[in-house]
Amino acid sequence: MSFLSTSIADAIARLKAGALVALPTETVYGLAADACDEQAVSYVFALKGRPSNNPLIIHVADIALAKRYVQGNDLAEALAAAQWAGALTLVLPKAADCPVALSVSAGGQTLAIRMPSHPLMREVLQGFGGGVAAPSANRSGRISPTQAAHVQEEFPDADLMVLEGGACAVGVESTVVDCTGEAAKVLRAGSVLLDDASQIAAAVTTATVPLASPGMLSSHYAPSLPVRLNVTHVQQGEALLAFGAPLEGSAQMLNLSEAGDVDEAASHLFAMLRALDCPKYRAIAVMPIPEEGVGIAINDRLKRAAADRL
Ligand code: TXA
Ligand code: MG
Repeated sequence: MSFLSTSIADAIARLKAGALVALPTETVYGLAADACDEQAVSYVFALKGRPSNNPLIIHVADIALAKRYVQGNDLAEALAAAQWAGALTLVLPKAADCPVALSVSAGGQTLAIRMPSHPLMREVLQGFGGGVAAPSANRSGRISPTQAAHVQEEFPDADLMVLEGGACAVGVESTVVDCTGEAAKVLRAGSVLLDDASQIAAAVTTATVPLASPGMLSSHYAPSLPVRLNVTHVQQGEALLAFGAPLEGSAQMLNLSEAGDVDEAASHLFAMLRALDCPKYRAIAVMPIPEEGVGIAINDRLKRAAADRL
């Protein structure tokens, strides 16, 4: 049975013993394992049902530890200086003597790494002293969890401690940026925007490369119900995920942000998709979300939620 706990010490002890722990981050809850323990990492893939060719993100408490795992460069250092601790993941070449389990990088030569800002996650990382591999704590292909109870819904039967950290403030997964070339390439949109010149060194140029990350399958983040996007009319029996002033006529309505604020909408997105994903409705109808700020990441996740299932 998965269970909730508020004990940081227990979370650290479990990680040290090679067990999995679900941990809160500022983006979504992660399913964490000691990144250097091949067996612990294998439990992550097994519990999620995650294909072994889809690599995991390593979470670290500080830059010194990041440098043991990956080879930095000017681009990565500028991005990390501007955005860490925070919702930005950097893809970099592995360090020469990298101790991380091979399966974390799916056997590849690069690693994805980030320094999260959530205070509980930081306490766990500092106490643990090493890197933690942590994908979102959902079954593969499903909606990411933004509350501890969502993790329990995903894995009701696992012997899994879930560290209670409240609702995740950001609500969508980190921005993933490939820093292995001259220019930063955004592999996954998130709340950190690289085209905001004030946030990064002037020398850094960016490009968006959709689907260049192994995990960015077209069908992902999928509820059980069909999802209909950019709706201007609600059809009979549909549940409505509203943004701003809601449309009339839905069987049930939840509002991502009455005020039309994309950051507020991101923080509610996954919890509201979960809540509306109920067989008594025909489909989830979603009102248009502006393609600005974290709205870009919201629309990316919604498109995957609406895509034909594999
Ligand atoms: O906000 C987040 O990033 C959350 C929290 C828990 O930190 N984690 C998360 O992990 O979303 P996950 O495993 O659900 O998504 C990781 C994404 C996947 O799309 C994966 O393919 C990509 O990062 N990724 C991981 N390592 C990579 C690498 N070496 N090169 C390219 N993409 C990589
Ligand atoms: Mg995920």
